[in-house]
Amino acid sequence: MQEMMEKHDQLNRMKRNLDGIKHKIAVLSGKGGVGKTTVAVNVAVLLAKKGYKVGLLDADIDCPNVGKMLGIEETFKMEKEKLMPVERYGMKILSMAFFQGEDKPTIWRGPLIHSAIMQLVEKSDIGDLDYLIIDMAPGTHDSTLTVFQFLDISAAVVVTTPQSLSLLDAKKAALAAMHFNKPVGIVENMAGEIFGSGGGKKLADEMKVPFLGSVDMKKEIASENHIPIVLRDDSMRTGFEGIVENMKGLLK
Ligand SMILES: Nc1ncnc2c1ncn2[C@@H]1O[C@H](COP(=O)(O)OP(=O)(O)O)[C@@H](O)[C@H]1O
Ligand SMILES: [Mg+2]
Repeated sequence: MQEMMEKHDQLNRMKRNLDGIKHKIAVLSGKGGVGKTTVAVNVAVLLAKKGYKVGLLDADIDCPNVGKMLGIEETFKMEKEKLMPVERYGMKILSMAFFQGEDKPTIWRGPLIHSAIMQLVEKSDIGDLDYLIIDMAPGTHDSTLTVFQFLDISAAVVVTTPQSLSLLDAKKAALAAMHFNKPVGIVENMAGEIFGSGGGKKLADEMKVPFLGSVDMKKEIASENHIPIVLRDDSMRTGFEGIVENMKGLLK
């Protein structure tokens, strides 16, 4: 009974902490390495650049890569018993990686992942936001459920590479989002000579959901440069701007 009450209180605190967020957008995929973090970071940076209040939640508890991608080495500071998000490019960023001593690989069990995400959200000073972009772990297991159920997301962006295997996995991720009655859009990443292109659009048509756009395979994206590609490549920025506009179309 006591435990149930505590859970209930935690849920209420978390919901209150999310009250000031207009849109929560989860970026997901069927498998790892397809570019979720890349898409989440660049979409968030563009929105912030346009003047929106933006948060970026790294909900990949096992491999929290947002900080790595942006070259963030600092850890959380506490103020009035709240975790202060790390700020970069005008966005407020939350990640498990910002806890001290988190450089070893983490192996979490389902319930722990659930509570880690809940606590990041509940205990942080996230404030009022126009958009919270949520970079998810691959697949559709515990953390996906937590985010869909408890964070009450507004829409899901599914990232896939153009190959058929990735598309099959992406379909599962999209179906999970649809199961929760969330609007879904599809982004194709790493299009080009190596993996081909057009698979993302085909999947979107097949699932009758909007295709948000395609991002080419480009070696500059994978470079160790910690500046997001939309801030250093005009054609990439234009491409991502289209994706952001289409993504807004998912929101009511
Ligand atoms: N369009 C692209 N062109 C080249 N490299 C990319 C592209 N998208 C992502 N990458 C690289 O591929 C790797 C995996 O991307 P990441 O965004 O971390 O995937 P995920 O979050 O789905 O695991 C990273 O090294 C990233 O820099
Ligand atoms: Mg990632």
